[in-house]
Amino acid sequence: MRLRDELKGVVPDNLLNLVPSGFDIVGSRSGAVAIVEIPSELEDYKYEIARAIIRSGRNVRTVLRRIGPRGGEYRLYTYERLIGEVTEVIHVESGVRLMLDPIRVFFSPRDQYDRLDLASRVGDGEVIAYLFAGVAPYAFIILKLKPTVRLIYAVDINPDAVRYAEVNVRLNKARGRVIPIEYDAARFCGEMRDSFHRVIMTLPLGAHQYLPDAIRCVMDGGVINFYHTGPEEEPFRDAEAVIRSHCLGMGVECNIMGERIVREYAPRVYKVRVDFKVNKG
Ligand SMILES: C[S@@+](CC[C@H](N)C(=O)[O-])C[C@H]1O[C@@H](n2cnc3c(N)ncnc32)[C@H](O)[C@@H]1O
Repeated sequence: MRLRDELKGVVPDNLLNLVPSGFDIVGSRSGAVAIVEIPSELEDYKYEIARAIIRSGRNVRTVLRRIGPRGGEYRLYTYERLIGEVTEVIHVESGVRLMLDPIRVFFSPRDQYDRLDLASRVGDGEVIAYLFAGVAPYAFIILKLKPTVRLIYAVDINPDAVRYAEVNVRLNKARGRVIPIEYDAARFCGEMRDSFHRVIMTLPLGAHQYLPDAIRCVMDGGVINFYHTGPEEEPFRDAEAVIRSHCLGMGVECNIMGERIVREYAPRVYKVRVDFKVNKG
């Protein structure tokens, strides 16, 4: 169902092109939350839009309107609640169940293909530091695709995210395999030097500040999955530059193994992932 078609005759013709072409769904058959951006010109029609989303028949019980960009340490949006009360859901992705509340924790269903891609590159027996883990979606997808992985530490400073990650450990029968830790990523790496086959850094706007920490805690020959943003014309330019500069500064050799555009982050800006190997010599 296209919202625009649904709202013909309700929203005036001259505003119809502003009706959002889509919305995010977080949740599953047991109940879902829709997250939508509505421009200010459609203020008078926001509840009609929310009702049209509910009618879309995808078990949406609550509609949230996203206000402004993500912000704060926990990378959260501000929302206006248009319909519904309940915002805690169980999201199902690639056979993994994730309990979360989008108001209290970061989660993006749009990263699902990146999770599958990253998981496909994990090797047998790896011990992984998953920094900036939120409710730990990458950890459970990795475990699902690569059950031979040894251990994944999921580190985040948002206590709500860690609490949900702990619930998700139980939901996905990952006890003893995924270990959520409420801790600062830099401190964690400082205390776990040369310990990990892989360090995953899912914080596109700030991961670069933690690259020295990640390089310290990855073992010789280990891999860092680094997230960053970059302009449409040269999406990997900035990520490669910060990797080069930190590796040089720390006297380690870094070899890029793969690069991937994860998705659009802002107009003409991509979120990217660069995978590189660290040789400490
Ligand atoms: C962009 S979200 C990614 C969450 C998760 N990996 C996902 O894909 O759904 C970044 C997360 O980093 C956490 N964070 C920010 N600064 C941190 C720090 N210094 N140490 C640990 N976690 C941090 C935030 O709380 C947030 O949950």
